[in-house]
Amino acid sequence: MIAPKNDRGVVLWLTGLSGAGKSTIATALEPRLRGLGRRVESLDGDVVRTHLSKGLGFSREDRETNVARIAFVAHLLQRNGVTVLVSAISPYRATREAARARIGDFVEIHVAPPLEECIRRDVKGLYAKALAGEIPAFTGVSDPYEPPAAPELAIDTSRVSVDAAVELVVDRLRALGFLELHPTATATP
Ligand code: ADX
Repeated sequence: MIAPKNDRGVVLWLTGLSGAGKSTIATALEPRLRGLGRRVESLDGDVVRTHLSKGLGFSREDRETNVARIAFVAHLLQRNGVTVLVSAISPYRATREAARARIGDFVEIHVAPPLEECIRRDVKGLYAKALAGEIPAFTGVSDPYEPPAAPELAIDTSRVSVDAAVELVVDRLRALGFLELHPTATATP
């Protein structure tokens, strides 16, 4: 029997520009989803690049390798019932679609403030360097970002607070059936 969605785990794939707010939303989602009884794990591009993808750069090939590795690990976790929070720019639509095809239970969340907002925030100081030509192939400045054509959710973090973003995700998961309680778990004698 196919497990109900609630038991199967799900991958929440947060894609968007550097500084869009992917990791911030994922970090806030973790305790919220645990509070709803989910087992949660995070795969963050910045962190993955310090071990699993150590040594990879930002060429198209390296980004695709990085994203494919993240998708592989996310799937292993998801099929064991884990809610996986992926935060990675993952700029190529085809690579994200390949992840969706592999995983199945996949919710694509486009974290999408305007580029100008990311430049204004410039949390890591990388946009200033990229705009000065000091970082080649920087996403959104001198390298492509292909927005999702039909994400399950898009969040403009220049208009929505972190807490509100978390609730948007929870509402969407509920609407998609990923937070429904297992019928046998709710049955009262
Ligand atoms: S991805 O393209 O392979 O999905 P990933 O999310 O893992 O990217 O890493 C992005 C982070 O790497 C950015 O948030 C930024 O801190 C850093 N970075 C360094 N160089 C670049 C670059 N050329 N383009 C984008 N991000 C870069």
